Amino acid sequence: MSSDTTAKPKIPDPCCFVIFGVTGDLAHRLVTPALYNLAEAGLLPDQFCVVGVTRTEMQSRSLRDDLLGALQKFATRPIDKDIAGKLFDCVTSVHADPRDHGSFDRLKVHLEDIAKRGIRNVLFYMAVPPTAFKLIGEELSRTGLLKEQNGGWRRLVVEKPFGTDLASAQQLNHDLLRITDEHQIYRIDHYLGKETVQNILVFRFANGMFEPIWNRNHIDHVQITVSEVIDVGSRGSFYDATGAMRDMVPNHLFQLLSLVTMEPPSRFDAHSVRSEKGEVLSAIQIQSPEEALHNSVRGQYVAGRSGDRQIADYRSTPDVDPASITETYAAMKLTIDNWRWAGVPFYLRTGKALTTKRTEVAIRFKQAPFAMFRATEVERLSQNYLVIGIEPTEGITLQFNTKVPGPTVAIDGVEMRFKYKDYFKAAPSTGYETLIYDCMIGDNILFQRADSVEAGWQAVQPFLDAWQQAGGDGLALYRAGTDGPREAHGLIERDGRRWRRLNGE
Ligand code: BG6
Repeated sequence: MSSDTTAKPKIPDPCCFVIFGVTGDLAHRLVTPALYNLAEAGLLPDQFCVVGVTRTEMQSRSLRDDLLGALQKFATRPIDKDIAGKLFDCVTSVHADPRDHGSFDRLKVHLEDIAKRGIRNVLFYMAVPPTAFKLIGEELSRTGLLKEQNGGWRRLVVEKPFGTDLASAQQLNHDLLRITDEHQIYRIDHYLGKETVQNILVFRFANGMFEPIWNRNHIDHVQITVSEVIDVGSRGSFYDATGAMRDMVPNHLFQLLSLVTMEPPSRFDAHSVRSEKGEVLSAIQIQSPEEALHNSVRGQYVAGRSGDRQIADYRSTPDVDPASITETYAAMKLTIDNWRWAGVPFYLRTGKALTTKRTEVAIRFKQAPFAMFRATEVERLSQNYLVIGIEPTEGITLQFNTKVPGPTVAIDGVEMRFKYKDYFKAAPSTGYETLIYDCMIGDNILFQRADSVEAGWQAVQPFLDAWQQAGGDGLALYRAGTDGPREAHGLIERDGRRWRRLNGE
């Protein structure tokens, strides 16, 4: 996310894009179409090549066909033959398996040959399960491939999940930092690839009118919702070991939380922005096991109907333990212990197989005093919300009270809406374009730093521990196609507040 939006975009240095897991789902579904979209936008360097690392022997020509097939299946725009041809012409394959010591030497020789053509910068993209990070990293380190020398840079792109709890996240960071330096690591959270998420910073800090009221004096509470209609589907084995909390909260929901709550950075650069994000995440109050249980709800879906789709019990999903107590829904209340936010509750919720797909941050402002309207027919004032719509509604809505035209004083809540699509035309993208481009230009604003990752896990660890200890007790079942377990309403209603409705505006 270049800070100068009016300047011509910078073209990345010549570079070689090495993909581990090149024939896997992530590389097919997101990375390949994103590379194509970058090529179409003229944002790849002239001297560019892709090296696909395959665990079994594969000819470069077969890899090109494989990636072209992936592009045809997952392209977000009509494919221009010439652009695709040029992109895939630069693809070569190398057969290397980190368990086979020595096979990375082949990769090294291959990259040395490419360097002779003037492409000395290398980006290693780990489109592989996290269990493979360490082995691959160690082999890259053993072969010296992560060393930045002769003016060439080396970058390592790592996909979520960054650990499965605080201890494993610390271990992963430790392992990565042993073989490379923080400035070379790009930890991707795909939420930061979303325009609407990136806009939170601009909305807050490029407008003078919101910042003065963006604090505990004016804000009553904040609701962060990521509700999904999709069920667990074919991801049973991953999901049953993961659950809604690990899958969504310390990463995606905390990205939203940190962007909404961070202090203004002194500069729009990676160091300043990431430091402020880390700072606010580490100010989340760490709860005791009792508090964590009191301030959270976990649920699991049972069979139900969502639209015209019948969804079966979570426990009957392939590769899910029939007695599983993994949560498919999580809601919690957090507080941030700093001057800006002390006393403001943050209610977070996320779940699968719910009634609607909706990702939003809703900021509820404190109510105006009612006294002035006591002698009128007005019974109540409606609530003042500022809603940042991330998906599928992309925009910002402000809800406020207004007088209903007529001779008496009647008041109604109305909305002022900004929708991206009314103002901007953007070619459909995968959401990975900005992230990949930023890796290539060396801008790591949109990537997670080790301290933020660990601060996120630190805040959710008490919930994980308390839930583990409670076992199946306290797991609330909810029908698929609804807005989640009833208990989640209790979590917020006991504070005299209500969740925003999931269905309906
Ligand atoms: C992924 C999770 O990281 O994010 C998935 O593993 C989830 O379970 C997805 O469905 C949600 O992403 P988005 O962009 O659809 O909100």
